[in-house]
Amino acid sequence: MTLLIAQLSDTHIREGGAFAYGAVDTKSFLEQAVAHLNALDPQPDAVVLSGDLVDYGTDAEYAYFRSLIAPLKAPLWVIPGNHDSARIWHAFPEAGALRGGEGLGYKVEVGPLSLLMFDSTVEGEHHGHASEARCAWLADALAATDGPSLLFLHHPPFLTGIGHMDRNNCWEAERLAATVAPASGLLAIGCGHIHRMITATVGGRRAMIAPSPAHAVSLDLRENSPATFHLEPPAILVHRVTRTERGWTHVSHQSFIGDYRGPFPFFQTDGALV
Ligand SMILES: [Fe+2]
Repeated sequence: MTLLIAQLSDTHIREGGAFAYGAVDTKSFLEQAVAHLNALDPQPDAVVLSGDLVDYGTDAEYAYFRSLIAPLKAPLWVIPGNHDSARIWHAFPEAGALRGGEGLGYKVEVGPLSLLMFDSTVEGEHHGHASEARCAWLADALAATDGPSLLFLHHPPFLTGIGHMDRNNCWEAERLAATVAPASGLLAIGCGHIHRMITATVGGRRAMIAPSPAHAVSLDLRENSPATFHLEPPAILVHRVTRTERGWTHVSHQSFIGDYRGPFPFFQTDGALV
């Protein structure tokens, strides 16, 4: 049995399709991402959007976001990022109704796979927080989960070396790491916030940051690097969870959005390399 969970992150939609930061056509990027997701074969069993759906968190932005995402064929589950607001739960009431309480996450079951959707946001702040209450919710959710699971949160619970983002990552991440460490069914952790593919280990689990379908935070590992972004190839992640004779396994693929040359065959009809 195989399940596919596509992860989209940091779409940063502004009302009416206004460019973000004067340079990023986030509306068009999201439209291309939706078309890319709809063209995946096989189709994902669900799509997770790991925060920063919009830029200012207004009702108008969420309404516009919903109009852009409406053609998406697969079920969509969202968690907030630092650019979102509590209005997200009014825009996505089906997710809001599943929450464990104010400021807490929710759990969704996709067949035998559980998606643990962790709210890491702090109202009015850019950093996140793995608070005691949130980690208690996560511990309970993990304890109540028999099968495999994936954990999603916006703020990475690890350092990336990009200083201006690390200062606003998931604070008190060691509490989250200690919470996930004993959970044998938890396969991986998916994050957003940095807009580029980065991997790490957290509590003995593979953790990864999904790229954005729009702009990428600049890869600048110098001390005191300025807060800048680049327009790199837009992308998503595709998490593949499959049951083997040795149990559940997980891999993640980066899938670039756009028209690239190919496919080209490796072999001729007689089996020789081209
Ligand atoms: Fe973002």
